[in-house]
Amino acid sequence: MKRHQTCGRCIMDKKVTVIGAGNVGATVAQRLVEKSLCDVILIDVLEGVPQGKALDLAEAAPIEKHDSMIMGANSYEESAGSDIVIITAGVPRKPGMSRDDLLTINSRIMKSVVQEVVRYSPAAILIIVSNPLDAMCHVAHEVSGFPRSRVIGMAGVLDAARFRAFIAMALQVSVENIHATVLGGHGDTMVPLPRYSTVAGVPLTEVLSPERIEVLVDRTRNGGAEIVGLLKTGSAFYAPAAAAVEMAEAILKDRKKILPCAVYLQGEYDIQDLFVGVPVKLGKGGVEDIIQLHLTEDEMSALKKSAQSVGELVNALKRLA
Ligand code: APR
Repeated sequence: MKRHQTCGRCIMDKKVTVIGAGNVGATVAQRLVEKSLCDVILIDVLEGVPQGKALDLAEAAPIEKHDSMIMGANSYEESAGSDIVIITAGVPRKPGMSRDDLLTINSRIMKSVVQEVVRYSPAAILIIVSNPLDAMCHVAHEVSGFPRSRVIGMAGVLDAARFRAFIAMALQVSVENIHATVLGGHGDTMVPLPRYSTVAGVPLTEVLSPERIEVLVDRTRNGGAEIVGLLKTGSAFYAPAAAAVEMAEAILKDRKKILPCAVYLQGEYDIQDLFVGVPVKLGKGGVEDIIQLHLTEDEMSALKKSAQSVGELVNALKRLA
């Protein structure tokens, strides 16, 4: 196996830094190493926490049968030269909070994190997970100065996975038979697209009545809040982590996989200078293509409405600055 060039300690030829060693970050780190995708540096401000979780994961390696290196740190030196940096740092939602309530605190955290990332890993591809997602992507893009191909938000993969899970539960079929497309911002205005969602290749609109589809769409839109309501002390992390790792894997293995992600649109879908979820092709260059779907008037106006609410958050960010 080729050794990563920039870090004497690394074993694999790819290196991923995960910022935030909380529920999402630690689960991302676990999945990355247990899939033998890369070495992982886990960073958090809490002293001992990333080191302790990394050591715990390293001690699971003999049982899980992988040789990926994982280490924890409170500073960024060890992260130097990362291929991908996944940012989960921030505070999660509590019951009654919307993702947007996190704006002020998480935008400050995002800014300070990205400044360090740029210093140590100027060629990295950023995968943003912290909420409110689309606004945090905006901060990361602006602060990093990276091209839009290297700043990607994790939202659509998670929202589509939730939609797929709910469709599979409703039809009592394997989740593997279900494909789903969800566009728009990662919030209540997201746009699940039944017309572009299929059950073993058959459009969902031919399998379920509009009323039953609407129930599933509604549950998808509120999927995050449903889990916050159950957990009470935090927000979802298994599915968000799985979604971020699917994106990272597509990039690390240059899969050219088409996945819905938040990207900076510059005229695509008639949306200008905003991060909005659309299907993109992910490969070693990050976002290698933005796929333009043909939308009906209704779908287009729902997407525009979603983009508008992202725009309002970005304006709120500017007022905070
Ligand atoms: N640098 C590094 N880590 C930080 C920083 C910082 N500046 N500020 C906070 N953190 C860390 C916290 O110490 C904590 O360990 O981020 C971690 C967040 O973990 P959790 O509180 O468990 O939150 P989690 O459920 O992982 O969610 C993280 O992802 O899905 C989103 O909405 C969610 O924005 C939230 C983020």
